[in-house]
Amino acid sequence: MREKILKILKSSSGYISGETISSQLGVSRAAIWKHIKALREDGYEIESVTNKGYRLTKSPDRLTAAELSDGLSTSLIGQHAVFFEETDSTNIQAKRFSEQPDGTVFVTECQTGGKGRLGRSWFGPPGVGVWMSLLLKPSLAPEDVPQLTLIAGLAVCRAVRTVSHLPAMIKWPNDVILNGKKICGILTELSAEMEQVNFVVCGIGVNVNTEGFGGELSKKATSLLIESGTPQDRKAIAQSVLTEFEALYRLFLKEGFSPLLPEYKSFCATLGKDVTISRAGKEESARAVDIDSSGCLVIDQSGTRTSIQSGEVSVRGIYGYA
Ligand code: BTN
Repeated sequence: MREKILKILKSSSGYISGETISSQLGVSRAAIWKHIKALREDGYEIESVTNKGYRLTKSPDRLTAAELSDGLSTSLIGQHAVFFEETDSTNIQAKRFSEQPDGTVFVTECQTGGKGRLGRSWFGPPGVGVWMSLLLKPSLAPEDVPQLTLIAGLAVCRAVRTVSHLPAMIKWPNDVILNGKKICGILTELSAEMEQVNFVVCGIGVNVNTEGFGGELSKKATSLLIESGTPQDRKAIAQSVLTEFEALYRLFLKEGFSPLLPEYKSFCATLGKDVTISRAGKEESARAVDIDSSGCLVIDQSGTRTSIQSGEVSVRGIYGYA
């Protein structure tokens, strides 16, 4: 109900009477008043003037379902959103509620047990990031799912460039970096039968307004605030990620990864670098020379070229994280 009232307030240019809202929603004026009070407690500034009604004058910097869907122009991704003030992990929630419709976004203000790739954890403090997971139900072969992860990285890269005008790049397969440090991580999890995907959860964490990182993390993590010196609009970033993801996802489902490859390569900071590949507890040196049409990284080791899939591999530059 609160979300519906918010939608009405946001779509009316001037004042709107309690009576109009109550008749539009089929609830009493007293109930409307109670919800307005709760919205104010959540940080919405709502004026009320006798004989005129209510007017929304300011929205708080909160990434709730209502804020995420306000003005979102997608047709699938994020059309349904589930919000948690605080949760362990939005990926866990998406898997828990996997019966929700295709394209549902699970979003939280604060993640207490965020999951990263390769069993790592993810720092998700309150009110400063975009911590969200997309529930997807594509008709795809399980082996093509890693490409979705690359698409999510490309979507974040585009969004940061468009909204914040910062030169985001991609560290293969899907970390988004700025000035050599990580601003975004993506964790894709899959539920599948032998030949068919049940659902995919694509978890995206963007460090937007994090003021600092402690200890070892400070060497490889950064945020849009730290790099730009100004707080950035979390809602605009999140909506742009969803919009870009939808466009890329639709094209990918129709035509595969090939049409997206040139743009992905143009943003891929890993190409041309000497890297260390860690797989199954072993480290090898190689030069990253190309990305193939299925999104694998092509490496050169003493003149021999091989392709590696994202899966259980970690790649880092020999001179630092990127
Ligand atoms: C990584 O770089 O290791 C991946 C990090 C993924 C973090 C995001 S935050 C939202 C979603 N929920 C999680 O628990 N993890 C992902």
